[in-house]
Amino acid sequence: VRLVVLVSGSGTNLQALLDAIAAEGVARYGAEVVAVGADRDGIDGLVRAERAGIPTFVCRVKDHTGRAEWDAALAEATAAHEPDLVVSAGFMKILGQKFLARFGGRCVNTHPALLPSFPGAHGVRDALAHGVKVTGCTVHFVDDGVDTGPIIAQGVVEVRDEDDESALHERIKEVERSLLVEVVGRLARHGYRIEGRKVRIP
Ligand code: GRF
Repeated sequence: VRLVVLVSGSGTNLQALLDAIAAEGVARYGAEVVAVGADRDGIDGLVRAERAGIPTFVCRVKDHTGRAEWDAALAEATAAHEPDLVVSAGFMKILGQKFLARFGGRCVNTHPALLPSFPGAHGVRDALAHGVKVTGCTVHFVDDGVDTGPIIAQGVVEVRDEDDESALHERIKEVERSLLVEVVGRLARHGYRIEGRKVRIP
């Protein structure tokens, strides 16, 4: 299974995938990262890909006349690598209709909260501000909403009284990285069916 991973930041989720594939081998893990895409330059996520000898592409909104043109360009750049599955791992842009027309149903996202609670770009901050006692992370298929697609798996993380946003996010990311590695591997090895809001992995 060919994976294209989309990143916007440090890329530790990407790194977890790369490490798992390196440790188990492509055949046993069931997937390989064939390219890494980003919406901005100068991020560690791209450095991690380059260190692993993986092709990268950058698709910046400001290089395009509008959001729809950017979305189309991102879809083209992604399609050039012929992915079987796209993994959005800390990608901080909403994937538009052209992208989803091509990759909907085979694009997963990881979110640092227990969806449907706390969707959007500040899930960790919002959970903390709300005073929840447990939060966590969610791996789900991307649909045309924001963090609203069918849920594949979730991991629970306790909130501690002394937590600030970064401490809590780091603790979430520890769970998130292993959840993403486990889910992507299962999808790759066993395939899957999306039935409404249910995801079936045989
Ligand atoms: C992850 O927690 C992801 O869910 C969120 O931003 C973080 C990205 O971390 N959207 P990294 O870039 O994978 O280190």
